[in-house]
Amino acid sequence: MSGIAFKPTHDKIAVMADIPVVLSGIQPSGGLHLGNYLGALRPWVLGQEKYRNYFCIVDLHAITVYQDPKLLREQTRQLAALYIAAGLELKHSTIFVQSHVRAHVELSWMLTCITPMGWLGRMTQFKDKSGNTEAESVQTGLYIYPVLMAADILAYQADFVPVGEDQRQHLELTRDIATRFNRVYGETFKLPRPLIGHIGAGAKIMGLDDPTKKMSKSDTNPGHAIRLLDPPEQIKRKIMRAQTDSGSAVDVQNAGPGVTNLIEIYRAVTGATKETAWDSFNGITYGALKTKVADAVVASLEPLQNRYAELMMSPTELDALLKEGAGKASEVAEKTAALVRNRMGIG
Ligand code: TYM
Repeated sequence: MSGIAFKPTHDKIAVMADIPVVLSGIQPSGGLHLGNYLGALRPWVLGQEKYRNYFCIVDLHAITVYQDPKLLREQTRQLAALYIAAGLELKHSTIFVQSHVRAHVELSWMLTCITPMGWLGRMTQFKDKSGNTEAESVQTGLYIYPVLMAADILAYQADFVPVGEDQRQHLELTRDIATRFNRVYGETFKLPRPLIGHIGAGAKIMGLDDPTKKMSKSDTNPGHAIRLLDPPEQIKRKIMRAQTDSGSAVDVQNAGPGVTNLIEIYRAVTGATKETAWDSFNGITYGALKTKVADAVVASLEPLQNRYAELMMSPTELDALLKEGAGKASEVAEKTAALVRNRMGIG
């Protein structure tokens, strides 16, 4: 074991029935960006002490579009390191890989059997991702993807699901699926509630190159997203080039999407209130605003980057931690799967 503090282990998690359960996940499908951090990972960290948390690395969701197998394995481990580097603590949070807990897939199938196609066809993310592709050639995984997400959540009887705004519709679907199951087979699932924007800012971070579009992993324009592992100089360069409004100074009354996005980013990384942030930026030049935002983002990400580099030097410990997490998660998810099998008359 290197000098890295992996303790305390998952063993110390207080399994107390009265603590609300949180579940969420991120796909290991390439460099995480500031939107993933501010919409999900940071709220998870800030809220972890209040809940019994399950945070998974959703590799089964990632393979709904082709992933290079070797890269996927690497990115899975990297994401585990990022979870911890961001501040998740094993005494509050169980961290695991979705595919290591077989009950997710089993539950997903059982839930697919009660989910109407019409509900899935209405999902805007499916429509966006399948785009102009003919239905003939769209992978079925992309279509039933939200049912697997429902299985992830319902397996833990989660009370809350902290996510970014773009996942709201998937959570509504999860509640619909749970409600239908309860009606058909009898009370089985708790109805989970979304936690979106509950840290005050960051639920929808927009692209730096085009602040009318959500910051997204798949956008390849180098000026689009800040990646969590971008070196400080690169982060500063990207922010200094971010699109702002016409004019040259911040006008709070008439701020457009570019300025609003930068101030939203500032608020999310610093925790500043809306009033304080907007008041302090009113009238300053766009250049000065960008410098302040860049400094705040770098200050927030630097400790994470340093810790990440440290953790990645101990791949064996990371793997052990994920194995332990899968064991803990399986105990809970397997119980739910057994209950569902029983309700449905199988197994
Ligand atoms: P994924 O991997 O696309 O995104 C991970 C998290 O990041 C949030 N997010 C954003 N938040 C603010 N601004 C943005 N621009 C931005 N882009 C992404 C997402 O809302 C998400 O919270 N289907 C999910 C993963 C998933 C999951 C689950 C989530 C699978 N099972 C169960 C919760 C519960 C997804 O693809 O997220």
